[in-house]
Amino acid sequence: MPGGIKVPNTNFYRAPEHGADPEAFGRWAAEEIRRAIEREGPETVAAVFLEPVQNSGGCIPPPPGYFTRVRAICDEFDVLPVSDEVICSWGRLGEYFGAVRYGYQPDIITTAKGITSGYAPLGAMIADDRLMEPFLTETGVFAHGVTFGGHPVSCAVALANLEVLARDDLIGHVRANEATFRATLERPHELPIVGDVRGDGYFYGIELVRDKATKETFDEADSERLLRDFLSPALFRSGLYCRADDRGDPVVQLAPPLTAGPEQFDEMEQILRAVLTEAWSRL
Ligand SMILES: Cc1ncc(COP(=O)(O)O)c(C=O)c1O
Repeated sequence: MPGGIKVPNTNFYRAPEHGADPEAFGRWAAEEIRRAIEREGPETVAAVFLEPVQNSGGCIPPPPGYFTRVRAICDEFDVLPVSDEVICSWGRLGEYFGAVRYGYQPDIITTAKGITSGYAPLGAMIADDRLMEPFLTETGVFAHGVTFGGHPVSCAVALANLEVLARDDLIGHVRANEATFRATLERPHELPIVGDVRGDGYFYGIELVRDKATKETFDEADSERLLRDFLSPALFRSGLYCRADDRGDPVVQLAPPLTAGPEQFDEMEQILRAVLTEAWSRL
């Protein structure tokens, strides 16, 4: 098949058939990549793109051992593992790169957003020396041009931004506070509408459910009423800028500035609690 094919995500909360064993689930999910490569024909597959924590579907972290296994499967078929770190790099997960956080070595990293903290538009691709080698010969060129590729102003903003990241040890700050962030977000887990709280570093999703015991989700009409009509504007009006997303199961996603600490976490939790309680009463 030309273009891309999808493999299952790693949402353990939505994988009841794997019981309480995240490692077994991770093995299964990685093997699904092997099966997809074999199904398509390994000679037709160039790369496997994965986010360290998957954004769409609501901040889905990898099960233990998943990426190491995926790397081994890619090596078996001579396929390039690509870490899509447009969101997860530059401290979002408490390391410069998500690949470092989860201990795997990709061949390519794609990155953007946090590279300039959003102050200027910039995306970048980081490739292994082995992949770059053909382009670094005297006559070699990377033939795919981008109008604003290597734009000097955006690159200057990125360099200044990364200097601040290092100077203020913002990544150390995330690491020092991430456990408190998690613990604070887990407090509203007691609310009947909160099914799952998941993520790592400063990147979390709260999955909302209609029935906590059965994990029943919302139908289209409830999703419309709850997420688009009520939750998004109510959270925004209360001062919590976050994303209420229902491209998969409904989630509220939180990605605070890397400078945030316990005081801001408490404020976030208070707003979440009030708005989610109100949302439940409207159902
Ligand atoms: C994880 C991830 N990958 C890729 C993209 C696309 O990036 P770009 O718009 O720079 O092509 C996005 C955009 O939000 C993203 O979140």
